[in-house]
Formats: sequence, C-alpha cells, structure tokens
Amino acid sequence: MRILVVGGGGREHALCWAISASSLCENLYCAPGNAGISKIAECIDIQANNIKEIVRFSLESSIDFVVIGPEVSLVLGLVDELEKLGIKAFGPTAGAAKLEGSKGFMKDLCIKYNIPTAAYERFYDGESAKKYIKEKGAPIVVKEDGLAAGKGVTIAASIEEALVAVENIINNNSRLSPNGLVVEEFLMGQELSYFVLVDGTNTLPLAGAQDHKKVGDKDTGPNTGGMGAYSPAPILTDELESKIMENIILPTVKGMAQEGTPFKGVLYAGLMLTSEGPKLLEYNVRFGDPECQVLMMRLRSDILPALLATNQGTLDNFSLRWSQEAALTIVMAAKGYPGKYETGERIVGLESIKTDEALIFHAATKSKNGQFFSNGGRVLNICSTGKEIKNAQKKAYGAIKKIGWKGGFYRSDIGWRAINQS
Ligand code: AMP
Ligand code: GLY
Repeated sequence: MRILVVGGGGREHALCWAISASSLCENLYCAPGNAGISKIAECIDIQANNIKEIVRFSLESSIDFVVIGPEVSLVLGLVDELEKLGIKAFGPTAGAAKLEGSKGFMKDLCIKYNIPTAAYERFYDGESAKKYIKEKGAPIVVKEDGLAAGKGVTIAASIEEALVAVENIINNNSRLSPNGLVVEEFLMGQELSYFVLVDGTNTLPLAGAQDHKKVGDKDTGPNTGGMGAYSPAPILTDELESKIMENIILPTVKGMAQEGTPFKGVLYAGLMLTSEGPKLLEYNVRFGDPECQVLMMRLRSDILPALLATNQGTLDNFSLRWSQEAALTIVMAAKGYPGKYETGERIVGLESIKTDEALIFHAATKSKNGQFFSNGGRVLNICSTGKEIKNAQKKAYGAIKKIGWKGGFYRSDIGWRAINQS
C-alpha cells in the first residue's frame, strides 16, 4: 500500500516508524515530516493545514491510505475531502472532530448522554460569563471554545484571574471563536490520558498514558504540549478501565452515532480521576503527542491493519498485542519554550545513542549536509523501554546526556509520579 502520514512532529515520527514496519506498507510519505522522519519516509513539503494540497498530492500519487496526526487537519475536514474522492483515511470527519474542535459541543454531548464531566455553562458575551464566575467563586476554569493550540484554558485561582481570562478571550478578536467560551468547575485529582480506537460503532481500547504538561520540574511553570510521557499508567487498574469504558467512552461512541456524526479514529480522553470517579476533562480526536511515542514503543502488533479496520468499521473481534514493559519519553525543547525560542541550532551526538538504549523521535528538526538543526519548540523525544518505568527512565536520561545542543533543555523528573506510586 501507498501510505501518507500527515504532520511533522514526534507523534508523526512514531507513527511513521510503526507504519514503516508493517508488511502492508510499500511506500511511505509524510507531509511535511521532519529530518528524523526523512530517514524512513519521503517527506513532502505540504503543511498539515493545507487541505487542498494534501488532497491533490494524495490523488496524484495514488495514495491508498492517509493517516492524519494533528487535529487541525481533521477539524478543517481533510477526511471529508479525501472521502469524496474515494481515498481512505484514518481519523474523524469534521463533524465528529468537533469533539475536540468545540469544547461546548463536547460538554453538551456529556450532558445529553450522561457522561461525567465538570459542571459548566457556555457563554457568548463577557458580562454573563463574569456574573456566573462571581456567583460560583474560585478556583474556576475558563476555556475558549475552539482550537487554541493549548493556550485557550485558564485555571483561575481567584475570581479576578478568571475575569481577566474572560476579558482576554473577548478582546482577542483574532482568536475569538463563534462558539464563545465555557466556564467550568475546577476538578481535583490525577490526570490520565486514555486511548481507544473507534470505528463508528466498535471500540478497541489501546492503553493509558500520563504526560507532564508543565514546562518545569515538579510540575511548575506554564503549560506546554507535553514535556514527557510514560505508559502504562500505574494508576489505571482493570476496575478503573472498565469504569472509563462504561461511563465515558461507550456513551460517547453511541451518542456521536445518534447525533449523526459517528466517530472513527482514535479517541483520546483527557480524564481527571476525582474522588467521585473518573470525569472527562476533554476529548482529543487524534493521538497525543508525546503519548503516541510511548504507545508505539509498547505496541507489538502491526499497527496498519488496526488503522485500516478503524476506517472500515471492522474493529469487532480485533485485538492488539502490547509489551508488558514500560515506555517513557523525555521531550527535549528549545530554551524559552513555550514562549519565545531560537531555531536553527546545531544538535550533535544523536548517532552515538544505540537503539537498545533509546529511540529518538524527532519533533522539529531539519538537516543540512548530514547535520541536524533545531526547527521548533519541542524538538526531540528520547524514548526508552524497561521492565518498569524507573528502568526506562534511567535509560532515557542516560541517552539524553549524549546529546549536545546548547540551546536545548529538558525536565529532569519525567515519570516521578508513577515511580513514587510503585
Ligand atoms: P483541556 O485543554 O481542556 O484539557 O485543558 C488543559 C489542561 O487544563 C488539562 O490537561 C488540565 O490539566 C487542566 N484543566 C482543564 N479543565 C480543568 C478542570 N475543569 N479542572 C481542573 N483542571 C482542568
Ligand atoms: N500531550 C497532550 C496532547 O497531545 O494534547
């Protein structure tokens, strides 16, 4: 088969790595890809949000199957456009991608189908949102309703902070979403990412993972896309998994079908494990980044038949084998991220890391004359496996020390929570 992977981050490098090992994969392309991906796939210079060009390339290059990494392509309707031309794709239609694209849509679905989530209200003007915040008090959470590249959520410790967040959303016309904003109850507990393949009707649970959203050690500083992740998550017991499937995932799958927007693709539930049980914080309609990297490290089966079955509606009776080992990834980012940072800095030492120590999934790199340079905020993922998370952690931190990059940094405590728990 001729496969196109859309995206150019660490998630897409991990997907390309897994797909390239499939016996069904004859030709692998990635748009736009990165320097690491270019070693295993032909990189095509088209950005993930350029739907028209991706469709044109897929048609002209007789692509059989398009695997879509980032949410932006899905929300913009890439799957719908490909389907019109009879090209198969992995991922939801724009209608179903609203689960991630609109927090209001997701929250309303939760109420209608009795899915546990934080209590909330939707607002379309600042004054009513502010009135509600004053009534409810702090801590309280303010969310812009639309894709905001991880910047749309404010966890406000005080009423004043929440009011400022509302002002910012209202005033920032460039980002103001027609869906308005959501104000919701602050939930306490541990967060868990849970991944399930869904073919419209049937579900195939993948695994749990936990990521580290804050930029600094001990979970300090601003939120990022994720500074590291590990799988399995020790907190995810069989009992908890059954609860998540029964109370959250299955009603969502049923609800989406009933709403006329059946969900196909990978459903990534961002959960808060509260004293009242698991509650849904958010849905993502794609693999997590960097969670995907650790899932791919643990997957023992060929991934491609599972992605195809997701598209074809044949996930019933499908199963996947997983390694019992743990996987952990450390993100190496450019100093200044998630704020301003430099790009174009030389990175050395990657070749000295052996594959049994760590795999390096590139997130934002380019190469010139065989040398690697940084090309974004999150730049590299250093992924290791081990009997337990602490063993994988030791290997990954051993490997990362061999990398020379003056402008790079990483957290020194990825996996701490899991290691403390076990
Ligand atoms: P979201 O994009 O909605 O997942 O929000 C980003 C992050 O904000 C989540 O991963 C949580 O860490 C935090 N968060 C979101 N909603 C809540 C909430 N209701 N209570 C506490 N933390 C939240
Ligand atoms: N790691 C968080 C995300 O992919 O949204």
